[in-house]
Amino acid sequence: MSDQRIQIGGLTLQNPVLTASGTFGYGLEYDDFYDVATLGGICTKGLSREPRYGNPPERICETPAGMLNAIGLANVGVEFFCKEKLPVLRERGVTVVANIFASSVEDFVAITERLESETGVAAIELNVSCPNVSKGGIEFGRDPKLAAQVTAACKAATKLPLWVKMSPEAGDIVGVAKACEDAGADAVTAINTIRGMSIDTSTGRVRLANRTGGLSGPALRPIALRIVWDLVGALKIPVIGIGGVFTTEDAVEFMLAGASAVQVGTANFSDPLAANKIRLGIAEYCAARGLTASQLIGRGRPEGA
Ligand SMILES: Cc1cc2nc3c(=O)[nH]c(=O)nc-3n(C[C@H](O)[C@H](O)[C@H](O)COP(=O)(O)O)c2cc1C
Repeated sequence: MSDQRIQIGGLTLQNPVLTASGTFGYGLEYDDFYDVATLGGICTKGLSREPRYGNPPERICETPAGMLNAIGLANVGVEFFCKEKLPVLRERGVTVVANIFASSVEDFVAITERLESETGVAAIELNVSCPNVSKGGIEFGRDPKLAAQVTAACKAATKLPLWVKMSPEAGDIVGVAKACEDAGADAVTAINTIRGMSIDTSTGRVRLANRTGGLSGPALRPIALRIVWDLVGALKIPVIGIGGVFTTEDAVEFMLAGASAVQVGTANFSDPLAANKIRLGIAEYCAARGLTASQLIGRGRPEGA
């Protein structure tokens, strides 16, 4: 089998397939299906400083080629995660990327510091698609200055690799990503969901209690691929591709565009084995062509692009 290891900054992953935050619980929920320690890594459900119940139901609905979710970032909180979930993941040898979110820089830093004090976290992923309460509710991820501010503050609070997850709703995603790179991000992950909505014509009511929800799944993939391509061209740090990766070919597409790894999200809901199948599929794709996984990265880009 060809070498499947890839490098994200100083971190070596055993292969380029991770699961996306919010679609794979805290990792072990899928352990009945396969050994999740064989994945490149798992991104936890978004963790906040305090536990959260999230939004009232209905929180998800299916759409053509995707789904809408308005979970409202329900989670057990960073303390419970560190005490109850992380020890099991650590024992099982799972590569854990802790996805975190907050509505103030102070809370982002507090969560980062809490994770820094534990062993068994491979990297921290900042979900910056959250409103900053002290800045009038502007999302951190829409504004290069705010995104850089939160990145720099978290970077100062940890030695762990720091990944920043890009919101496709930022007007200038490349500008936001560059600001995060300059502020010390070790990688960017792209993309988070795009807001959408759906109305049930038989009842005349909006389907989600929250009215709008984040669109994910294959409908997102060409947008995500375009953004990954642009980010790879503009940044020095690695880019991790996310958005509608359902098959090996989808994952390879992102890597040819220059993504150093991929995250599998919504696909886990329709096939719990999806990420593992994609991991094996990439290895086969590489073996058939005499390539290592890292040689796939950017292979679809013209010289210098
Ligand atoms: C039900 C659900 C919950 C999600 N929760 C989070 C989250 O807590 N933090 C985060 O950064 N992204 C979250 N996401 C976004 C995904 O991680 C991913 O960026 C997005 O769904 C696009 O990938 P996909 O098309 O493969 O699902 C969530 C997505 C879904 C569908």
